Amino acid sequence: MNLILMGLPGAGKGTQAERIIDGYGIPHISTGDMFRAAMKNQTALGLEAKSYIDKGELVPDDVTNGIVKERLAEPDTEKGFLLDGFPRTLDQAEALDKMLTELNKKIDAVIDIHVEEDVLIERLAGRFMCKNCGATYHKIFNPPTEEGTCDRCGGHEFYQREDDKPETVKNRLTVNIKSSAPILAYYKEKNVLHTIDGNREIDEVFSDVKTIIDN
Ligand code: AP5
Ligand code: MG
Repeated sequence: MNLILMGLPGAGKGTQAERIIDGYGIPHISTGDMFRAAMKNQTALGLEAKSYIDKGELVPDDVTNGIVKERLAEPDTEKGFLLDGFPRTLDQAEALDKMLTELNKKIDAVIDIHVEEDVLIERLAGRFMCKNCGATYHKIFNPPTEEGTCDRCGGHEFYQREDDKPETVKNRLTVNIKSSAPILAYYKEKNVLHTIDGNREIDEVFSDVKTIIDN
C-alpha cells in the first residue's frame, strides 16, 4: 500500500503517520524529518536545507526529489510506504510519478487532512516532541498521559521545533497554501485524492484515515 499524506503545516500529518505506521507496518517517509536529521548531523544536505527551513521556505525541488528517490529505492518500501510532506510542488509530484514508474509502483491513495489556518497556528504554537522517539504532543490538545513522560517510549526530554516560531509559521503557511493547490488538483484529476476534516479529535481523524486505507 503506497500512500501520500498531505495537509498544511500543523494539519496532523505526523500525528496520523505515527498511527498509520503502528497499525499497518509500512515505513514513514517524511522529508521534513529527513531534513531535520541532516540538520542535526550538520551534513551538507542539512546545512543547505537549514537555510530554507529557518525562513519557512521550501527546500529546492532537485534536492528534495533526490533524497526521496534514494529513500524509495530502499528494500523496506517493498511492502508499501507512507509519504508525509512530499510532494509539495507540481515538479515534485511529476518527479515522484517518474520514480514510481521506474520502480513499477503506483500511489494507491492521497489523503489530504484539511484544517483552517487559525487552528493550525494554535497547534504549531503548542506542539512539542519527545527527544528520544520523536512522538508528537500538544500542550493542550494532546498532552502525554503522565506529564513529562512520553507515552510511546517513556522518555523524559522534549523539544520544540525551530520553525514553529510565530514569524516562521506565518510564512510556512503562506508558502504551503500556494504550493499545495496545484498538487491537490493533480491528484484529484487522477482520482486518488481523499480530503478529510482534520479539525476533530485525533482518533476520529484516524478512523477516517483507516476507512480510506482499508477500502
Ligand atoms: P515538515 O516537517 O513536513 O513540516 P510541515 O509540513 O510544516 O508540517 P508539520 O510537521 O509542521 O505539521 P504536521 O502536519 O506533521 O502536524 P503534527 O502532526 O505535528 O516540513 C518542514 C520544512 O521542511 C518545510 O517548511 C520545508 O522547509 C521543508 N520541507 C519538507 N518537505 C519538503 C518538500 N517536499 N519540499 C520542499 N521543502 C520541504 O501536528 C501539529 C500539532 O497539532 C501537534 O502538537 C499535534 O499534537 C497537534 N494535533 C495533531 N492532530 C490534532 C488534532 N486532530 N486535534 C488537535 N491537535 C492535533
Ligand atoms: Mg510533520
